[in-house]
Amino acid sequence: MHQSYHIICGENKYTLRSGQTASSNRQQIHPSITSTMSRFSLQGRTALVTGGARGCGLAFARGLAEAGANVAIFDRIPPEEGFLSIEKEYGVRTAYYEVDVSSPESLATGFGAFQTDFNNALDICVPCAGINRHQTFLEFNYADHQELLGVNVLGLFHTAQLAARQMIANGTKHGSIVLVASMASHVAVRSQLCSAYCGSKGAVRAMCPAIAKELAEYGIRVNSISPGYVRTEMTAAFPHLIEEWKSAAMNGRIAEPEDIMGACVFLASDASSYMTGQDVIVDGGVTKW
Ligand SMILES: NC(=O)c1ccc[n+]([C@@H]2O[C@H](COP(=O)([O-])OP(=O)(O)OC[C@H]3O[C@@H](n4cnc5c(N)ncnc54)[C@H](O)[C@@H]3O)[C@@H](O)[C@H]2O)c1
Repeated sequence: MHQSYHIICGENKYTLRSGQTASSNRQQIHPSITSTMSRFSLQGRTALVTGGARGCGLAFARGLAEAGANVAIFDRIPPEEGFLSIEKEYGVRTAYYEVDVSSPESLATGFGAFQTDFNNALDICVPCAGINRHQTFLEFNYADHQELLGVNVLGLFHTAQLAARQMIANGTKHGSIVLVASMASHVAVRSQLCSAYCGSKGAVRAMCPAIAKELAEYGIRVNSISPGYVRTEMTAAFPHLIEEWKSAAMNGRIAEPEDIMGACVFLASDASSYMTGQDVIVDGGVTKW
């Protein structure tokens, strides 16, 4: 049975889950584990997550907050209860800004308000806002394609750009940008009609090393995450495909947003300090068999 227990390291407090030990006695934790875990701490850092009102973005916001970060979100819609309860649960500061990431004006206004409210602090940015359209390649029309690229590619790129400028200006020593790509940038999604979406996520993955290279001189790392099938509003439109998605994964299930949260916290934290320009696939093995 899985137990959870806490490690206190300096001012940092961590929750570990282990199937091996039922002990919550911190004396029994080896010092090397404590020092490793301290590298996952985001205590005192400030994060911005776009698309954080629900789904994967909300899970990322919650994971970053649990690790100690203050978290702001940009979204077109008001956040779910899971965001509103973060402050009370984790004792960090949160804020929601109504922003359409596909609009340069809205993004600039959002960043302006965020900078004022958080005294220009920013260490972590997770551009996660994204949309999909279920249409055949032969019928996909220009307007829908433009809208999709406006959010998934241009919105993500310019969020990362404004975040990087803010990180350079505030001189953070812990700058980390985690772009949200997709398994759909690695393979065609067998059950869905999403050629434009695959292309948009391919763009995210392709821009990642190039941005990483340019931001390395400022000590800002840039990586991407490619989730597989995750149970969110985006995939809720395809209930008839759930069984097929389960059988496509080596582990026989689709992911909950919390299943990909850990990869985001890892990439945001000093635990991944030697990683930049990389993509981390969290897909239950779908792309590997
Ligand atoms: N669900 C999956 O299986 C899956 C798999 C791989 C990648 N992803 C990616 O993860 C990210 C989150 O997807 P999700 O599954 O949580 O979907 P979701 O629809 O539940 O959440 C997306 C969020 O982005 C917000 N958003 C959309 N357009 C926006 C805009 N223009 N400006 C600001 N906010 C906007 C939405 O309001 C919503 O809160 C997306 O980039 C998606 O492509 C999802």
